[in-house]
Amino acid sequence: MALITKKIKGTEDVLPKQSYRWQFVENIMREEARAYGFKEIRTPVFEHTELFARGVGQTTDVVQKEMYTFDTKGGESVTLRPEGTAGAARAVLEHSLEQDGLPIKASYFVSCYRYEKPQAGRLREFHQFGIEEYGTQAPAADAEIICLAQSVLDRLGLSQVHLEINSIGCPECRARYNQALKEYFTQYKDRLCPTCLTRLEKNPMRLLDCKSPEDKEIAKDAPKITDYLCEECEAHFTEVKKYLDAAGVEYTVNPTIVRGLDYYTKTVFEFVTDCIGAQGTVCGGGRYDGLIEELGGKHMPSLGFAMGMERLLMVMDAQKIEIPDNDKTALYIATMGDAAKVKAFELLRQVRECGLIAETDVVGRGLRAQMKYADKIGAKYSVVLGDNEIEENKARVKNMETGEQTELALDESFADKFSVLQ
Ligand code: HAM
Repeated sequence: MALITKKIKGTEDVLPKQSYRWQFVENIMREEARAYGFKEIRTPVFEHTELFARGVGQTTDVVQKEMYTFDTKGGESVTLRPEGTAGAARAVLEHSLEQDGLPIKASYFVSCYRYEKPQAGRLREFHQFGIEEYGTQAPAADAEIICLAQSVLDRLGLSQVHLEINSIGCPECRARYNQALKEYFTQYKDRLCPTCLTRLEKNPMRLLDCKSPEDKEIAKDAPKITDYLCEECEAHFTEVKKYLDAAGVEYTVNPTIVRGLDYYTKTVFEFVTDCIGAQGTVCGGGRYDGLIEELGGKHMPSLGFAMGMERLLMVMDAQKIEIPDNDKTALYIATMGDAAKVKAFELLRQVRECGLIAETDVVGRGLRAQMKYADKIGAKYSVVLGDNEIEENKARVKNMETGEQTELALDESFADKFSVLQ
């Protein structure tokens, strides 16, 4: 029987004491996305299975092995989103967002679900921050979203995260490349894993991101896409690099990056680090010029990226980047007696209206226990209200770290004067 007090394998809890770390990272992402003109989109956690099968691609690991798919009571097949791009594209189509003008620029925070083998940095429920841009084929757009990803990483204070870029061309280049791959991998047919054998027929490029060690070894000497790009794709890639150079964004061209999802065309990129073990890709993205059409819309060249929240937080930990904890209680009001309790409510309201965190006892503890609690939660200041304080209409606010005390009147000036102490 399932142990109901244990979380499911591959999932994680974010506890109240840790959530400030997530909020710090999310706030930076929100601010950066906003600065580049992206507005938030929120889509459902489940969609029709067919959306992911068509969007992400039938021959990908994600669709073939990793999706959480189930039939609803109404007999419909639905899937928990394994990523954010397909759902956002569906929403763009459903709401004809192109009517608001192109490009459409959307950002999101999503939880994603993939039935992968859990390990450090690889979860079955994980979280992404992503952005998507629809309706532009200009290389400047590719460079701009890469700059946005770089700005986020810079503001988080990360070092040793490298940008690797590649172009995987258009369907035309891909056809020639797939033919070359097919010829190459056919030589090793008897050593390939069963999934790759079917990929060899349907989508040879997927062999390049197979996780089996033997297939990985074989893939090392496979032909490189960069030798098969058509003139237009080559020129597009050159332009993207030109803009990145101009923006001072450092990168390496890595012709082995093909990404694990089928919708990509032309530019693909990853930000990788080796400071958190094998799962070192913290951000992945690229252009997907055919996706909207694949889902039934008009031709609408598009692009985007997603960052793994858990992996980014792991890198921040590994690099000992300090995250300010703004969730500490500024004032704890300890009370003795009914009149003090009532007065506390008046003062709490004032202090909270100043944007500060203020708390009092709502358990019914004695004074000693209240002070112990204030200490435990790390309150910066405390004040004890009893009958004397109420009578004299003043009380001593104590700095819990230094022990220093300041007398404040318990009137409408309380919060203002308390704020000054901060
Ligand atoms: P992806 O490379 O599959 O791309 O995922 C993006 C990021 O999500 C990865 O770089 C990684 O940081 C994180 N991630 C992926 N799988 C896991 C996992 N099992 N556990 C923890 N973190 C994980 C996409 O999902 C595309 N939709 C990105 C995109 C947006 N391309 C264009 N627009």
